[in-house]
Amino acid sequence: PVRKVYAREVLDSRGNPTVEAEVTVGEGIVGKEGYTGRAIVPSGASTGKFEALELRDKEERYQGMGVKKAVEHVNTHLADAVLGENALCQNRIDRLLLEADGTETKERMGANAILAVSLAVADAAAKAMRLPLYQYLGGCNAVTMPVPMMNILNGGKHAENTVDFQEFMILPVGACCFKEGLRMGTEVYHCLRKILKDRKLSVAVGDEGGFAPNLKSAGEVLAMMTEAVQAAGLQPGKDICFAIDAAASELYQEEKQGYYFPGESFMTGTEVLRTAEEMISYYEELVKEFPVVSIEDGLDQEDWTGWSLLTKRLGNKVQLVGDDLFVTNTERIAKGIEEKAGNAVLIKVNQIGSLTEARQAVELAHRAGYRTILSHRSGESEDTFLADLAVASGSGQIKAGAPCRGERTAKYNRLLAIEDQLGETAVYRWQGINGNL
Ligand code: PGA
Ligand code: ZN
Repeated sequence: PVRKVYAREVLDSRGNPTVEAEVTVGEGIVGKEGYTGRAIVPSGASTGKFEALELRDKEERYQGMGVKKAVEHVNTHLADAVLGENALCQNRIDRLLLEADGTETKERMGANAILAVSLAVADAAAKAMRLPLYQYLGGCNAVTMPVPMMNILNGGKHAENTVDFQEFMILPVGACCFKEGLRMGTEVYHCLRKILKDRKLSVAVGDEGGFAPNLKSAGEVLAMMTEAVQAAGLQPGKDICFAIDAAASELYQEEKQGYYFPGESFMTGTEVLRTAEEMISYYEELVKEFPVVSIEDGLDQEDWTGWSLLTKRLGNKVQLVGDDLFVTNTERIAKGIEEKAGNAVLIKVNQIGSLTEARQAVELAHRAGYRTILSHRSGESEDTFLADLAVASGSGQIKAGAPCRGERTAKYNRLLAIEDQLGETAVYRWQGINGNL
């Protein structure tokens, strides 16, 4: 049973406070001291409107970003809710945590408080069972290594540059295994650095470790990425494919009834505003010109009609990922399935706030033939739960940033260890939509 629950305030990769929980389980038979699991919750910058609530103190300390209240909730209400409970019953543990909160958005306890306990319980249970976390969560069929979607060029809310789309990622689809994929992607990353440097462009990195130079359009970024792939001796579209996270909800402006591109406007000297229709045509052009196989949040989080149209036009060959659209929420995913909006779901545990609910989201998506991608947040930590969860869920894809910055490489390094452990049984395979690489 759960014997101790304790939380403290720690820092995330942006220097903002976040919640770390420690959960100790066990009794006589598993050792006097028991087993302690721990987890640190991540935090987003371009958060979706429909995400579970992250509780912040809004006091003077840490410019209002403190999480003392959430920590206190763990140490009192949430600890009371799960003390003495069987840590192997994750489902029941999470239900008790949700009941202790009692709100739809987890606003009373804070999703950050609930999630910290939820994840730490799983980590402790895995240790008590003497199983690696991915195996405790996924059983012995958890052998699929994720293809890393490595975000090598940052824009939008993740950097202070003129790139309007938030993320430009590379997928080493032609690799034989995760380890080789990581090597290929990392070599491309270094080649891109050199290309930027040679052109006197900034090689400073954004929140997720990708470069953040001042470029004027997505086309310019993708052309440069193509060069980087070639410079690494690899073939674009065969060894390496591209993915975009437009994070379009951040570009959408209600009063302008369209998507405003501030960087492109600044760089070109004319106001760039695109309607939903124009956004779709824009993506079609980019997909035609470059090996873009995945587009995330191509349209606003409330534009279901636009999403259906986007899916009709591009869904037969491109992975269309709902992040802010679905927020790892089964109700929103169910609506998406009904409306034929998108064909993939980004899974972020802190968008929904408990492990069980995140896993239900994965299950629902898979049952409907939607793909899933396990994802970090732009505010991360050295915690590697995500890497294990990615293997456990069999998603075959992970978003964990560039091969740079410790909080990003921690996930990749953990995956290297998992692949080593799986040995011959490990599977690594990119599955393109309708065979489209
Ligand atoms: P966030 O960005 O963590 O800042 O929300 C990640 C994403 O949009 O995928
Ligand atoms: Zn996103």
